[in-house]
Amino acid sequence: MFDAALAAARDWHGASPVQREFAPWPEDLTYVSREPVQVPGLAHLVNDPGAASEASQALRDAILAIAPFVEWRLTYSEDEVGADFLQRFGWFELAGPEGHFVTNSARITVGFWGANLFYPRHQHEPEELYTIVSGAGLFHADGEDDCMLGPGATRLHGVNQPHAMTTTDAPILTLVYWRGAGLADPPRMTAA
Ligand SMILES: [Fe+2]
Repeated sequence: MFDAALAAARDWHGASPVQREFAPWPEDLTYVSREPVQVPGLAHLVNDPGAASEASQALRDAILAIAPFVEWRLTYSEDEVGADFLQRFGWFELAGPEGHFVTNSARITVGFWGANLFYPRHQHEPEELYTIVSGAGLFHADGEDDCMLGPGATRLHGVNQPHAMTTTDAPILTLVYWRGAGLADPPRMTAA
């Protein structure tokens, strides 16, 4: 199942010039067995992962298949994002230094947010390329126009560029690539 999810992610990456340009697919991946960690958001993902496109359906379904067995994380505190957010959010590292597939040459994560959530303004040193797998979200970033993005769309956040996201009536499922310095550092909330 994990191999199928990895293959679907690899196909998704290979079909997208933007993704290929951001980072090459890591060829040194080793599967590591990790204890599953479930979060409240998992039930929301399973119940409604958001609409996929024809091109994204295989990856969405492959992520759903492994979702009960991955090491979900929340990272943020209730002070930072609020209690409701922590009930309906979660992310895991598919590939990376602490991923289900270990590599030191890349970091690829999966993130899910339920409908009607606000992901507050935050920043981090590594660059981040979001790809939307299913659902939709309104992306905000300093210096750029807000942008409603759905399946197949991508969004690049630069080094320490503050950004935020709002989901409206749909949840959002994303596959996210990271690159650059500070990959092990958690994102931090941007000062108001
Ligand atoms: Fe980010």
